Amino acid sequence: MRTLRSVVRGCGSYLPPRMVSNAELEGLVDTSDEWIVQRTGIRARHIAGEGETTSTLGIAAARAALADAGLTADDIDLVVCATSTPDHTFPSTATMIQAGLGMHHGAAFDVQAVCTGFVYAISVADKFIRAGEARRALVVGAETFSRILDWEDRTTCVLFGDGAGAVVLEAQEGEGTSADRGVLAAKLRSDGRYREKLYVDGGPGSTKTTGHLRMEGREVFRFAVGMVTDVVEAVFEATGTSADELSWFVPHQANKRIIDASADKLGIAREKVVITVDRHGNTSAASIPLALDAAVKDGRVKKGDLVMIEAIGGGFTWGAALIRW
Ligand code: ACO
Repeated sequence: MRTLRSVVRGCGSYLPPRMVSNAELEGLVDTSDEWIVQRTGIRARHIAGEGETTSTLGIAAARAALADAGLTADDIDLVVCATSTPDHTFPSTATMIQAGLGMHHGAAFDVQAVCTGFVYAISVADKFIRAGEARRALVVGAETFSRILDWEDRTTCVLFGDGAGAVVLEAQEGEGTSADRGVLAAKLRSDGRYREKLYVDGGPGSTKTTGHLRMEGREVFRFAVGMVTDVVEAVFEATGTSADELSWFVPHQANKRIIDASADKLGIAREKVVITVDRHGNTSAASIPLALDAAVKDGRVKKGDLVMIEAIGGGFTWGAALIRW
């Protein structure tokens, strides 16, 4: 049955120029390159400088995605931005990106699902497109987690980084089978009982401050693999596909050990797994589009490839989406 699909027309990303190595963090907190690499796989991360904010990173990534798609902001009618580190409580970062692109039409809003934000945003934009409410959507993941870290807490400050990535989705007709290009399925989950395991200890409606990220890392690790693999299996089931058919697995880049354990449990060969956590750290909602863009630009992800994205984040939230590129 012919159906509308949200097809990826282009992608782009942006990283702040300042790169911070593990060695540099050794001068800040009681940590070591060896500990960080062994526990997480992270070697370096980018940190936003003065004058850079989540929206400026998002605008740069959005411009790159538009250029890659051969489009301008005039061609877009929806901007969805996934972020937990907005420039301001309001207006949304999406409207700031919209304005930065010189776009005065359509609709723009943020989606907040912490590290799962990009998967949520893709799912939401896909629904707008398939419902005929938007023809082309710019889906952005942009974060400046460096601004909500407690830089004296070695258990969290070594894990995160800043950056942004974006994709342009476009309505195209498909046959309604898994051979179609576009978003084939997305499954979203959340369970608010786990709030205390990963949260920010402030906010406009409680402390009237921004607060800092707090995490029970070992607990997050304990839940992560099971949640991720369950939701990826649900996407395989919904699309009648299997791990063998995947071209690429592009997980949220939180920790190399979680990624490896998830891929192994799902039976996905390690050479199909895209890894950027070593050089980007955990950039929350930006990590998947940053990794996608890296793998497209280095020639790994090509038109027609079957790509699974997945993430888990604070809430907990978790989700996965299967995209034929
Ligand atoms: N450098 C050196 N030592 C450290 C550091 C550090 N940066 N951080 C913690 N330690 C110490 C701890 O104090 C502890 O010392 P102790 O034994 O003397 O008490 C020891 O290292 C072990 O600490 P654990 O927390 O048990 O270490 P673990 O092996 O669990 O690794 C880590 C910690 C890397 C955080 C791991 O649990 C993890 O990756 N968890 C998942 C976190 C994650 O992915 N979060 C992102 C989710 S996405 C989102 O929504 C933001």
